[in-house]
Amino acid sequence: MAAVRTGKGGVTGSDTDIVIDGIRFAGRAFLAPMAGITDMPFRRIVQRFGAAATVSEMIASANLSTGQGDMVRKLQPAGDAPHVVQIAGNETRWMVRGVELALDTGAQIIDINMGCPSKKVTNGYAGSALMRVPDRALRLVEAVVEASSVPVTLKMRLGWDEESLNGAEIARRAVEAGVRMISVHARTRQQFYKGRARWHLVREIVEAVSVPVLVNGDIANMEDAELALDRSGAAGVMIGRAAQGRPWIVGRINRALGRAPAPISDGGRGSTIPSGDELLGLIGEHYDAILSHYGRDLGVRVARKHLRWYLEAMQVVLDGTQRRQLLTCGQPDRVMDMMARYLGRGVVAAPDHTCSGLEGLSELEPVA
Ligand SMILES: Cc1cc2nc3c(=O)[nH]c(=O)nc-3n(C[C@H](O)[C@H](O)[C@H](O)COP(=O)(O)O)c2cc1C
Repeated sequence: MAAVRTGKGGVTGSDTDIVIDGIRFAGRAFLAPMAGITDMPFRRIVQRFGAAATVSEMIASANLSTGQGDMVRKLQPAGDAPHVVQIAGNETRWMVRGVELALDTGAQIIDINMGCPSKKVTNGYAGSALMRVPDRALRLVEAVVEASSVPVTLKMRLGWDEESLNGAEIARRAVEAGVRMISVHARTRQQFYKGRARWHLVREIVEAVSVPVLVNGDIANMEDAELALDRSGAAGVMIGRAAQGRPWIVGRINRALGRAPAPISDGGRGSTIPSGDELLGLIGEHYDAILSHYGRDLGVRVARKHLRWYLEAMQVVLDGTQRRQLLTCGQPDRVMDMMARYLGRGVVAAPDHTCSGLEGLSELEPVA
């Protein structure tokens, strides 16, 4: 589809862009929210590669009274795309507080989480558990729409289980309450992440509402995206895990779905999959951004999973010693030297005994 070009070298939009209430997304491939992963440094890189939008990590609104500093860090905008902030909760007053905080940090869209399967979240009837109690879910949606001065969107699953595939019914009521876009992870809550996403079941939801629907689940490349769109009839796609270690993937799919090449101001970034020095530069930049976002001590821990994913994406397999050295090292320069070596760029004498700082930590220690 043709893009609409201005005379100034920028691309202002195309007929495949998703637009809600006058807010235009540059295309129709979105990065899914992933708690602990889609932080500001990651969202920024994904946006730079041309994603239509990214969604912040979920703000569990019941925690707002305690960890506000952390929340504000999570909510930081990441680039030029409309700033989408997700909130989760099961009590009206905390959801409304979440809206206020999101708006304070410049949210242009507020997304309600009705898809998270985590027991920690669902036990309190938040996330996907809300789909079991539609009336209650709708009261929360109404309260969020009422409290928000910006458009509200909803992320959900097909239903709680096979006996209650009520996604279409909830979507229809949510849109009546004012929700302006819906994204659907094409599994039930009881499936968690098992089996395959059933994109064709999203079609009933698409047909039940008049607003754009994004299909989500197991989309890892262009073929998946096209098939998911074809089977669901959705307006766009949302991509989560496939972007881990491959932050360019959402932008590549976005372009392939019809969005014009990245604006010139972007230097054409994202038009090819980075490799060699370019990939190393990207990883280094991501690593530095994580350290400055979280501070060095927490940052080196947060960065580990991303380093692992970059190596996996490049199909680099490390032996146990190499893995331990890389993932327990607390010296950023040494970490990048090791990445260079493992990715086949530059030479570092092996084994690497020069790294110290966090060696006492377990490699698998969970990240906060
Ligand atoms: C580690 C992780 C964290 C997630 N956190 C959230 C979240 O905070 N909010 C949400 O709505 N979905 C969350 N999800 C679900 C994803 O947004 C997405 O719906 C799911 O991963 C399926 O898409 P995918 O197959 O493209 O990964 C999370 C998924 C993962 C793997």
